[in-house]
Amino acid sequence: MKNDLPLISFTAIDNGYYSYIKVKHGSYPNLMFLLKEELGLDSFGECGGVGRCATCVIRTKGISGVSAIKERNEPNTLEQLGYDEEIIRLSCQLFVTTDLEGSAITVLEE
Ligand code: FES
Repeated sequence: MKNDLPLISFTAIDNGYYSYIKVKHGSYPNLMFLLKEELGLDSFGECGGVGRCATCVIRTKGISGVSAIKERNEPNTLEQLGYDEEIIRLSCQLFVTTDLEGSAITVLEE
């Protein structure tokens, strides 16, 4: 049942502003849609989540698992931007799961 799903808490940082976000596990298709709505990021996620537009780049800190969508475009898109650290991700390629609990997500591109 959806009400039994765990509640996730994490911090989102955009332009120096910190937002404490609480959300139910799996309540969004991916992290990009959640950040776009919660932070009011109008130009975030322009390709709709297929890993090509690079408008949803984030820095992750403290993500505990690998609940990632296996989208082959992500490595190429990040490489084109010059990002080669594992903590830099496309938020559209991460599921909203308990792996985010306690993490800090910083918006880098929008
Ligand atoms: S929404 Fe386009 S790359 Fe993530």
